[in-house]
Amino acid sequence: MKIFNSSQIRKADAYTIAHEPVTELKLMERAAEACAKWLEDEIPRETVFYIFCGSGNNGGDGLALARLLCHNGLSTHVFVGESNEQASEARSVNFQRLAEHPEIAVHQLEDAVELDFEANSVLVDALFGTGLNREIDGKYAELINFLNELPFRRISIDVPSGLFADRLIKENATVFTAHDTLSFQFWKQSFLHPETGAFCGNVHILDIGLHKNFVESEPSNRFVTDDAVIFQLYKPRSPFTHKGKLGKTRIIAGSYGKMGAAVLAVKAAVHCGSGLTVIEAPECGNEILQTSCPEAMFELNGDQYATAFLINENESVGVGPGLGTNPDTAKAFLKFLQDCTQPMVIDADALNIIASNPDSLKMIPKDSILTPHPKEFERLFGSTANSYERVDLAQKMAAELGVTIVLKDHFTQICLPDGSVYYNTTGNAGMAKGGSGDVLLGIITSLLAQKYEPAQAAIFGVWLHGKAGDFAMQKSSVEAMLPTDLISELGSVFKCL
Ligand code: APR
Repeated sequence: MKIFNSSQIRKADAYTIAHEPVTELKLMERAAEACAKWLEDEIPRETVFYIFCGSGNNGGDGLALARLLCHNGLSTHVFVGESNEQASEARSVNFQRLAEHPEIAVHQLEDAVELDFEANSVLVDALFGTGLNREIDGKYAELINFLNELPFRRISIDVPSGLFADRLIKENATVFTAHDTLSFQFWKQSFLHPETGAFCGNVHILDIGLHKNFVESEPSNRFVTDDAVIFQLYKPRSPFTHKGKLGKTRIIAGSYGKMGAAVLAVKAAVHCGSGLTVIEAPECGNEILQTSCPEAMFELNGDQYATAFLINENESVGVGPGLGTNPDTAKAFLKFLQDCTQPMVIDADALNIIASNPDSLKMIPKDSILTPHPKEFERLFGSTANSYERVDLAQKMAAELGVTIVLKDHFTQICLPDGSVYYNTTGNAGMAKGGSGDVLLGIITSLLAQKYEPAQAAIFGVWLHGKAGDFAMQKSSVEAMLPTDLISELGSVFKCL
């Protein structure tokens, strides 16, 4: 799914109105219907809805929603600004249409502070959407601060008021803090970055049928990985296949005291379908690895990676978890980097070794996949002021170096050598635990071995990893779930493809 900025979102509405038999008013009705359906499906019927409406079309969505909820027998209050405020036309029509339901209580926005809210209230924010053009201040800021303190579920329509669709906000800006955001048709970039996404709660993208031609032809180099992309990528196995056709994965990982990282990576590779899997590690890992993952073959690499790593062009290589950065290991890895021509997956200490030897950046084989967390990214490419600047820099570096950079985050960003960025939306906070990254390296390397193109392996691998995390969370909790659980859930994830 493409990510559009706020001016492209306006163009999408306008194009749909111009090319379909649908008016602005009808489009607003579609949006309100989609919200009403979601609320009726998700929220108990005895709820009292308090809907706060601005003077633009976001406010119009809120007014139409109030009418639809009331029409369906739900208890509804609306709050509007003073009548002399400039209102958009479609919003004005929907204000007039409130008269169809005199049972809807209409209040002034200012009166919210005086109101006795029912115990079973839900607050719906339709103050500002994608048309916000400056930070919120004055009476709107006061109202939002007041609403944020109330002990009720808060739901935003399209965009939490105070957030821009496509850019950062100032620190301490006033923003409606939503538990859920019901947004129309497209993910907005601000939902996907921690500084702004934290205000959105759970995001639900509702289809309002904006014109397909616009969506297909309008350029964007930022995308959200949606299920359709994944279903297209997945290569189901032929029943006549054999292990020789399913690739050979080599994981180079682990050192004394960090052999767990190697175990996680190699197990993930095996569970992800690699035909043959080899783990290359120092002597201290032999028994640990053979016992924990009998499906993988062990290849000894000295006491502390004293020998150069093996290069075999028929294998895909994932290197880094628990590797250590001692001088012998660094030397062996840098030599490997220089001699190897095939794309590899590079993580953790292997990235740290590159960061300490900046000239080696140029030696990374084309189409390799780097999987840094924010700190590793900073060591490699320097610090940035915020996550928006970080993804811009990652996008630039991926294109410059001809590699894929997987920036690990809540919504991991996969920056491809062609300059495009895919945001992944699977996964959860339970994955914030040492070992999750090792699992990811194993998954992506295994997919590379199975002949997924590097960009596909990165996009699909990150999605699988997050989905396995979501499955694991359903059986456990964000606190208790383990990276090991992600590996166990890979089977169920593949089953639903
Ligand atoms: N303070 C006060 N008024 C503001 C501010 C602000 N910080 N920012 C914008 N406005 C005013 C604008 O001048 C305009 O009148 O708010 C109005 C814009 O409100 P929106 O409803 O966000 O924008 P609009 O373009 O009318 O509608 C876009 O419509 O399709 C729906 O919900 C969908 O988000 C989408 C919205």
